[in-house]
Amino acid sequence: MTAHTIPVADFDYVVFGATGDLALRKLMPALAARDRDGQLPASARILAVARSSMDTAAYRAMLAEKVKEFHNATLAAAFMERIQYIAVDAKTGTGMDTLKTTLESRSDCVRVYYLAVAPELFVSITEQLAKAGLNTPNARIVLEKPIGHDAASAKEINDAVATAFSEAQTYRIDHYLGKETVQNLFVLRFGNALFEPLMNRQYVDHVQITVAEKVGLEGRHAYYDGAGAFRDMVQNHLMQLVCLTAMEPPQSFNADAIRDEKLKVLRALAPTPPEQCVRGQYAGYVSELGKPSNTETYAALKLEIQNWRWAGVPFYLRTGKSMPEKVSEIVIQFRNVPHPILPAEAGAVPANRLVMRLQPNEGVRLGLTVKEPGPGGLRVLPVDLDMSFAESFGVAQPEAYERLLMDVVRGNQTLFMRRDEVDAAWAWASPIAGRFTEKPPEPYFAQSWGPSAASELMTRDGRKWVQA
Ligand code: BG6
Repeated sequence: MTAHTIPVADFDYVVFGATGDLALRKLMPALAARDRDGQLPASARILAVARSSMDTAAYRAMLAEKVKEFHNATLAAAFMERIQYIAVDAKTGTGMDTLKTTLESRSDCVRVYYLAVAPELFVSITEQLAKAGLNTPNARIVLEKPIGHDAASAKEINDAVATAFSEAQTYRIDHYLGKETVQNLFVLRFGNALFEPLMNRQYVDHVQITVAEKVGLEGRHAYYDGAGAFRDMVQNHLMQLVCLTAMEPPQSFNADAIRDEKLKVLRALAPTPPEQCVRGQYAGYVSELGKPSNTETYAALKLEIQNWRWAGVPFYLRTGKSMPEKVSEIVIQFRNVPHPILPAEAGAVPANRLVMRLQPNEGVRLGLTVKEPGPGGLRVLPVDLDMSFAESFGVAQPEAYERLLMDVVRGNQTLFMRRDEVDAAWAWASPIAGRFTEKPPEPYFAQSWGPSAASELMTRDGRKWVQA
């Protein structure tokens, strides 16, 4: 199978925070990969913006380290040619005039302002762009998560951005929505007649969503210690996974039709009481950080969705750093057969389970019960129908950002969060996060599956995590 590349319109991509980790590790390599595949128009430019004073040659040299794995020398040189570095101080606006002059030479093409900076800078950058008259109709603004650290700060940011850019120009990115397998979740549910009739309280016992990471802080101390696992992962990435798993079929594949349905899920979330929320911190975190901290590196929750489809079906979520392996999975655990008719000596008949594996080794696994082959009575066996996308299709999965960065140029907001989604996610998350100062997180061993309280969250309901 071959990948399809659809060229996009001509653009100027302005990346604020161009010397930061996100820009260097994810955004620039993603643009480079799209360039390698021939998706970028010949004249498309990338304007790298940051505070440090350096010239374009120095910036290109800094970037060369990161993008070289994507290219042969000729392609790398062609990509570097697209890049210009402009020093701008987002707070004072120094350098904004240079950015303006550079952009004005091509006033007709799509302009993207990507704010790969700390959320504290969102407001001042937006103000500076507006002051310089750079909020033109062909401009789009991309906001990286986290958008605020609670409902009030998110509102402040969204209000400030809205004074300069319309909602149709605003792209709130959640890179989980750019993952192939997350999009496949949508296709599996709504492109097959098979699963949808079963996805409800009548057939589903519970849902588990695990996003485990093996890595720890990875040098992101300053950001991570102020955020923690709940704000860094649950309020955004895991919430999006909940939405895609639980949403009603939208009327069409239209951006707003989809976002309307996701919004309904977020609005149906019951407040999560303290006993349904576990926070953990891996041993060694404080010494890695170099100061005492009550920030959680692990969070597990039991979530209730108050609507007809899901009433009484718990959604258990967990995410953490320094866990035994990197794995993201959505497990739909079905109920047992309603009435057992197989003889007791046939063995236990486990309930069916549908597992959507988001990463790594993306695929789908459906746990079934079959007869053990051969004579000698009726015995049953659990087997997995196991499909690995890599093996089946042989196409490398593109990085999530590659698709999302191009969707911004195309003006397709389907995979971006609308303001009301962010508000609804915070309306649920803020009261939970607000309680975090009351109790320190529970310790867990580095490279383990989290604190024991997370297992208890399940065992007291007579259930257990699929990996533990
Ligand atoms: C980011 C978080 O949004 O997602 C990181 O800030 C986390 O802390 C990362 O490591 C996980 O993304 P992925 O694509 O590796 O699952």
